[in-house]
Amino acid sequence: MAGSLILIGFMGSGKTAVGESVARNLGWNFRDADTQIEEELGMSISRVFEQQGEAAFRRAEEDVVLKLLDEAAAASQGVVLSLGGGAVTNARVFERLKAEPLVVLLDADLETAFARAQDGKRPLARDLARFKELYGEREELYRSVAKVVVDTRGMNVEETAAEVARKIKSVSR
Ligand code: S3P
Repeated sequence: MAGSLILIGFMGSGKTAVGESVARNLGWNFRDADTQIEEELGMSISRVFEQQGEAAFRRAEEDVVLKLLDEAAAASQGVVLSLGGGAVTNARVFERLKAEPLVVLLDADLETAFARAQDGKRPLARDLARFKELYGEREELYRSVAKVVVDTRGMNVEETAAEVARKIKSVSR
């Protein structure tokens, strides 16, 4: 089965680690939108926010995500693509995701997500009140484009990856 499996969800839901594991298990390629943005801009996401502001980050994010979705659609081998937590707030990305068959939401509770997001790399995870607000604003967006929802509570990366593989088999059958 070749195709694009797109992981969405809030900061700290495990999209990158789970995406790498799912890709390894399926023998698919793995692409991470945040890593690609950092490569293209030549600096970390925190630095982009500091030096150019969030709006500049969001413009770069739109370009990179749309490009990665196009590349994945054209690839002969399957691709697992992890998107940053805010990618769904972009109208063009949101529309594209609605049309994608394998969009998987990694659902994490707020406390776990906040704890996991404290690695100093996420400018929008410094303040719990703001984090909570964003979580509330985005929940509906994630759910309206997701074709599959995986509840990550109580599961480690490998267990979550196995659950993603199990659930996508049943939707792509
Ligand atoms: C963001 C999530 C981050 C990264 C940036 C903004 C967001 O990605 O794109 O810091 O707005 O939710 P992760 O979801 O991988 O942490």
